[in-house]
Amino acid sequence: MTSPLVLGVLVSGSGTNLQAVIDAVASGRLRATIGVVLSNVATAKGLDRARAAGIPTVALDHKAHASREAFDGAVVEVLRAHGVSCVVLAGFMRIITATLLDAFPQRVLNIHPSLLPAFPGVRAQAQALDYGVRISGCTVHLVDGGMDTGPILAQAAVPVLDGDTADTLRDRILVKEHELLPEVLQWIADGRVEVLADERGGRPRIRISDAPR
Ligand code: GRF
Repeated sequence: MTSPLVLGVLVSGSGTNLQAVIDAVASGRLRATIGVVLSNVATAKGLDRARAAGIPTVALDHKAHASREAFDGAVVEVLRAHGVSCVVLAGFMRIITATLLDAFPQRVLNIHPSLLPAFPGVRAQAQALDYGVRISGCTVHLVDGGMDTGPILAQAAVPVLDGDTADTLRDRILVKEHELLPEVLQWIADGRVEVLADERGGRPRIRISDAPR
């Protein structure tokens, strides 16, 4: 029996992925609780969404901290104070450091709006359009020390259509993000995600075991 999953969700903006997680918890599709929603932007709409759902919120201004590590140290304190066991970066526009990663080993997840390893970093949808790919999508992955490089947990694809703009492609991808993120979190809640070290020092592998009956 695994302990109940307590999520800490980090947002910087609109928080539609956070909303998808809130809705999945409310409907019972995701058997977890959201311990706290934290933002580096005090006015982030994601914080309003959390407040509306009765979830504790914390705004921490990264500019008030001397270094990325100092900021991440403050984030870790907040997450620990709320009993968080798994951290979700849901549109959190900060590069995170080992200070946060080491506090939650293999338990920091990110959602990214492309089929990684294509188009990491910012403006992923515009990068996809500029390149001319015909399929794009989203990726949920564990966070490691790199930029969108961690082991991939799940991906979903969408077509890129003639006439797409970064906005229309973003909206099509977001529909998939909102399905995929709660689904992957339920895998974690069920203890189905295993991270297997590569004996030859290559990338760790992810194994998702069968769903409990
Ligand atoms: C999403 O596209 C996510 O993949 C990326 O940032 C965006 C956040 O959107 N990391 P929202 O704040 O969840 O609406």
